[in-house]
Amino acid sequence: MDRIRIVGGRRLDGVIPISGAKNATLPLMIASLLTGETLTLDNVPRLADVVLLQRILGNHGVDVTVSGKRSGETADHGQTLHISAARIVDTTAPYELVSKMRASFWVLAPLVARMGQARVSMPGGCAIGTRPVDLLIMAMERLGARIDIDGGYVVARAPHGLKGAEIVFPKVTVGGTHTAIMAAVLADGTTVIENAAREPEIGDVADCLNKMGARISGAGTNRIVVEGVTRLNGARHAVLPDRIETGTYAMAVAMAGGEVLLQNARPELLQAALDALSNAGVSVTPTNQGIRIARNGAGLQPVEVTTAPFPSFPTDLQAQLMALMTRARGTSHIVETVFENRFMHVQELVRLGAHISLEGERATIEGVERLKGAQVMATDLRASVSLVIAALAAEGETIVNRVYHLDRGFERLEQKLSGVGAEVERLSA
Ligand code: UD1
Repeated sequence: MDRIRIVGGRRLDGVIPISGAKNATLPLMIASLLTGETLTLDNVPRLADVVLLQRILGNHGVDVTVSGKRSGETADHGQTLHISAARIVDTTAPYELVSKMRASFWVLAPLVARMGQARVSMPGGCAIGTRPVDLLIMAMERLGARIDIDGGYVVARAPHGLKGAEIVFPKVTVGGTHTAIMAAVLADGTTVIENAAREPEIGDVADCLNKMGARISGAGTNRIVVEGVTRLNGARHAVLPDRIETGTYAMAVAMAGGEVLLQNARPELLQAALDALSNAGVSVTPTNQGIRIARNGAGLQPVEVTTAPFPSFPTDLQAQLMALMTRARGTSHIVETVFENRFMHVQELVRLGAHISLEGERATIEGVERLKGAQVMATDLRASVSLVIAALAAEGETIVNRVYHLDRGFERLEQKLSGVGAEVERLSA
């Protein structure tokens, strides 16, 4: 298994290109199941999760071709995928595939919408706490699907098609909102989704579906209205920039010190995280090429942050902010309200010399003068990258084990960091 070796203490200066968003790419690829025509996606990041989803879709009979690099193009540009679900040959998503990536459960909605049935493995346990699918199932039932649980699989049937309805989510859920939209686009009549997730990736998928002929309004607000249509067509869509990757590198620069342009980043996608960085004393400047992040000499101030659905501070940046706060001049508090048990990185940060205590969903971080490199490992992808951030400011060498978590969500992490001056390399097993 690959590892990453980091030697701390280098300033970061230069440009880091921001890739297309993983969390938009996955549902966009899944949306291809809704049409027999070709969906072309540009700015797709090269990630292990994208490759895995290609395999999962391939199992349903979907053809995915990746455009080769054109002359003059560098790896800085995302790839282009041409996805064609002309003929769906299998409506089962097996345990072996779904258990590797939770978001693949989302194939349920488009398969039922287009084929009238689907059999999808329940995703099972996850390192960041229990992540149930009850609200996704509720949304499908509201639209008229009959649901049975059989041998660990969710079996959904709507032989006469889905019917528009009102869906009120008792809790904001990204996957539930994607599911409701993808099920409703081909339903008979109008669907109203209340308490919908407002994450930018929901808006990106809705934009793409509208290009495909869907009639979705209100995406980006908490009330989304979908007027069902009888069929969707192909389209071409460029994936929006990854706000979690943006926030991660912003925190890396804040941690190491220096000045870096996060190219293509869009500030409105992560305002709460940028506000937290400004409060910590980091300079954040939106430019027409991206976001410039700088910290030159000044110490980091402690912050108080609570994670919550968009537009609040994202849970997917919680571990990274905690890594940053280990070096603040004072005591910070971070409250995690989205996922229970999403503190697996704490013990590993402590191995690097951090002072962190936990009380339920609240972490108290006492900033320390110095961190010291060590062997660490992490159990999920955002936690792993928080260890990389801590390592950038730790004395000596840190080895991050289980790099496959990073490869799931961060494109060319070690090249992007070494490109701005970090001492980081991949040690291949
Ligand atoms: C998505 C993101 C993930 C991010 C999360 C929250 C993708 C591919 N993944 O995950 O990176 O951390 O949003 O921003 O986009 N819940 C239920 N019942 C359900 C569904 C969810 O109780 O049926 C709960 C979850 O346990 C959690 C909360 O709702 O406490 C939010 O989860 P949700 O927004 O659904 O997360 P995902 O869509 O899985």
